[in-house]
Amino acid sequence: MEETVQTFKKLPIIDFSLLHHDSVIKQIHEACRNFGFFHVINHGIPDSVIEEALNVNSMFFDMPMAMKEELLSDDVQKPARFSRVQVGCHENGMLSRDFLKLYAHPLHHFLSLWPSNPLNYRENMGMYATEVRKLGIELFGAIMESLNLSPTQLKQNFEHGAQLIGINSYPPCSESNVKAGTSAHTDHSIITVLLQSSPGLHIMDRSDGAWKSVSKIEGSLEVIVGDHLEVISNGLYRSVLHRALPSSDNVSRLSIADFHSLGMDDIVEPTTKLVDEKHPKSSHISLHLPNPVAGVPLLLSGFYGSPFSD
Ligand code: SIN
Ligand code: FE2
Repeated sequence: MEETVQTFKKLPIIDFSLLHHDSVIKQIHEACRNFGFFHVINHGIPDSVIEEALNVNSMFFDMPMAMKEELLSDDVQKPARFSRVQVGCHENGMLSRDFLKLYAHPLHHFLSLWPSNPLNYRENMGMYATEVRKLGIELFGAIMESLNLSPTQLKQNFEHGAQLIGINSYPPCSESNVKAGTSAHTDHSIITVLLQSSPGLHIMDRSDGAWKSVSKIEGSLEVIVGDHLEVISNGLYRSVLHRALPSSDNVSRLSIADFHSLGMDDIVEPTTKLVDEKHPKSSHISLHLPNPVAGVPLLLSGFYGSPFSD
């Protein structure tokens, strides 16, 4: 039987145009602490940039397989790759999605590796990547403030950190035992900024342990607390378990997840100021992310996801 999922009522909404007001910093603190999630409105990314990003990606996924094949790869360290994930977990059936994973920072290093079809793909997605990076940096500053840290603390690490973009396509499924979706996971990132073409995101409500669907708010982007922020904040802001199950079986859904994390070869560990006698450093929240170019083997703590996982 299909699981009934309630809508998550009263998820926090942060007005980006008021970001550095004390009351908003407080709202960010409560949002990250209690939900690991917030909506952001008035984020400043022009509607046209968002529409064009969704357009070029839906054109990309609609192209015949022969035109996408050159990017088809299971090599998780490739800076631009296309693939399909199918996992068996949904009522004995399968969950399926197609995705593109793109390295996005520094943009000039990677742009020429991104899809060359449709023709304006690089231009339009490049514009979105640049805008969402600026947004991520500002949000990070506010999150640092919400932890009582200076907004510039770790900002440089963040600015030099990694930006990966995962574009997920959930076409309607024709096979009865396959459903479009992404299974439960946390993100490896500090924060993920998510753009959805239509509703479908579910997050785990910590107050009762139930899955709840996230309403789509006109013009909002969604901010997800990831594993790196859990580590940096010494466990104060926990990464949120989430999944995607498009609300309609007949409509294609797209989501663009922008993962901002520390550098691929940075050691991610609790900020010293958040460690004291009352809040000892948890021994398991320290991970070393490999440099993808050098291909160093993964040395990840079993508790956290990897930027290279699908
Ligand atoms: C994801 O978290 O990987 C996908 C989220 C979504 O499609 O909304
Ligand atoms: Fe995710």
